Amino acid sequence: MSTTLAKAAETVEYAARLDHVSKSFAGPGGQQLVLDDITLDVAPGEFVTLLGASGCGKSTLLNLVAGLDQPSAGSITTDGRPALMFQEHALFPWLTAGKNIELALKLRGVPKNDRRARAEELLELVRLKGAYGKRVHELSGGMRQRVALARALAQESQLLLMDEPFAALDAITRDVLHDELTRIWTETGLSVLFVTHNVREAVRLAQRVILLSSRPGRIAREWVVDIPQPRRIEDAPVAELSLEITDVLRGEIRRHGQH
Ligand SMILES: Nc1ncnc2c1ncn2[C@@H]1O[C@H](COP(=O)(O)OP(=O)(O)OP(=O)(O)O)[C@@H](O)[C@H]1O
Ligand SMILES: [Mg+2]
Repeated sequence: MSTTLAKAAETVEYAARLDHVSKSFAGPGGQQLVLDDITLDVAPGEFVTLLGASGCGKSTLLNLVAGLDQPSAGSITTDGRPALMFQEHALFPWLTAGKNIELALKLRGVPKNDRRARAEELLELVRLKGAYGKRVHELSGGMRQRVALARALAQESQLLLMDEPFAALDAITRDVLHDELTRIWTETGLSVLFVTHNVREAVRLAQRVILLSSRPGRIAREWVVDIPQPRRIEDAPVAELSLEITDVLRGEIRRHGQH
């Protein structure tokens, strides 16, 4: 009884907490330090983008938060198990859109009889009503990413980790999916940690942009994005802040990134 009360009284202050996290990999010239002393909290319901040059350790960091790999030093705690979405949709091609989502529901222990209705609801949430019976090869790239998003949402995690999920899409489809993601984030109150090397995308989406330096990846700077949602990627304040961030990013690349 006392445990239950203690649990109820406990408020979770973060969706993810990274405390002095470092990561090294064994390389040809010895240990290579990829992430150095990253301390970062993602608040419940917060949308954070991690921005940095190619190779600076963004995916490594996301994999650590996902629990796919362990930090070399420091600790990571998350509020439950995070859901993941990558650049490649990773849907099962032999299953329909609906069945791909149902598989995630099954893994979460949703009873068989409830899965179909929930999968239809999730497809509606990502505006793919009617796609339940479609096979993956019948869907466009944008539609596939919508199904992948619905499948990630099916896990009912408090934290959604996204690794450049729209990088392979054309600009117009990407714009539409930015709008959808903002809408879904607002509707669900999820926390999102979103990785990108696209500065405008980072500013378009996030409440907070965190810039990682390269070799090793360290938090170089962060910005609170105080621009009302929904934003458009071509809005003047988005463009202005993107320019400012791009200048700092270029400086970081010059300082750390060149061989
Ligand atoms: N499993 C691994 N073993 C050894 N080195 C690795 C491993 N995973 C990543 N690295 C190295 O860590 C560095 C960071 O890689 P990571 O994929 O995290 O970068 P990134 O910021 O996601 O880049 P991109 O924007 O190109 O996706 C790279 O130098 C990479 O070679
Ligand atoms: Mg990456």
